[in-house]
Amino acid sequence: MKMQRKDKAGWTIEKARKILSDAVVKTKGEAYPCHDFSLVKLIVLGQWSNVYTTIISKQKIFDSYRYVDLMAGSGTSYIREAKCMVAGSVFVAKAFARHPYSSYVLVEKDHSRFEDLKARSNDLNGPCQLFNEDANNVVNEIFDNQPPKTHNFVFIDNEGFNVNWNSIETILRSKSDMLINYPTKCFQRTTDDRTAGSLDNFFGDSSWRNALVEGEAIDSDKALAIYEEKLRRAFWHFRGKAPYVSSIRVGMQNYFYDLILCCKKGDYIDAWEDLKTKTYWRDPNIPRNACLLLSGKSSILDEYIIPFEQKKPTQPGPKYKQLSDF
Ligand SMILES: C[S@@+](CC[C@H](N)C(=O)[O-])C[C@H]1O[C@@H](n2cnc3c(N)ncnc32)[C@H](O)[C@@H]1O
Repeated sequence: MKMQRKDKAGWTIEKARKILSDAVVKTKGEAYPCHDFSLVKLIVLGQWSNVYTTIISKQKIFDSYRYVDLMAGSGTSYIREAKCMVAGSVFVAKAFARHPYSSYVLVEKDHSRFEDLKARSNDLNGPCQLFNEDANNVVNEIFDNQPPKTHNFVFIDNEGFNVNWNSIETILRSKSDMLINYPTKCFQRTTDDRTAGSLDNFFGDSSWRNALVEGEAIDSDKALAIYEEKLRRAFWHFRGKAPYVSSIRVGMQNYFYDLILCCKKGDYIDAWEDLKTKTYWRDPNIPRNACLLLSGKSSILDEYIIPFEQKKPTQPGPKYKQLSDF
């Protein structure tokens, strides 16, 4: 019996350490209230920011690469279960970047969160465009007028059916990779919350109706597959390149969402496939315990050491580097 060096939770702790210790966590102002699984979302975002900036900085055809956050929040979040402050998406994208972004574009609709985000954005140490607007109203300005030879990494952290399909198409007309928080759990709500109108806007048509099962119920897996297929088709249509659209489910039985990556097919998607294998992220104890440990509220390390039988791998590893290398 051997101990796995980069064990499941150990890996999570290593990444979470960076998120909990970012300087922004100590700043004054509102923290967006969230749950255990938000830490997992931030780790996935951070990992992809690292992969993205590693690859894109080598592409000489681009003069600049921007981080665009269409639902940026206030700059910090507060994980309720662990009573723990963490850096928000903007600062996680920055902290994990292998090479610094050329600039940032941040959108937040809520006025008070926007003001805190604006104050905190001074610490980004880079050019930053800020919009206190509904993202759907500013996507044209952001993507149609972007500087030439610019590539974007766009994070869309939906809370509900917030960013509509027209906006997605506008983004896809530009050279962009997208990471979308797809609000799977919202499909399970009542019809009052989940109006046909909001779904029509989110999907850009009534194709979601193909996922209706009995009466008002929606098969959320089928709806996700429909949305992903729409992304693939739109990517082909606007970019004329083979798309890669793939999602990671985060959460458990009654609470989960899917993080969808939409980008050009290429070698670097192996890093996403590697990230996808970490399905233990359906256990809320892993992010919660990581927060408790790192914030000094617990010192129980035993839970993080997971014994395993060392076996020869049956499948070859990804062609691209393992995520642990990033
Ligand atoms: C899940 S929170 C963002 C958290 C942030 N991304 C983070 O991880 O630190 C979603 C944010 O989007 C904002 N929001 C909701 N609808 C929006 C819209 N249509 N345009 C811009 N912001 C929006 C909300 O006010 C909220 O602060």
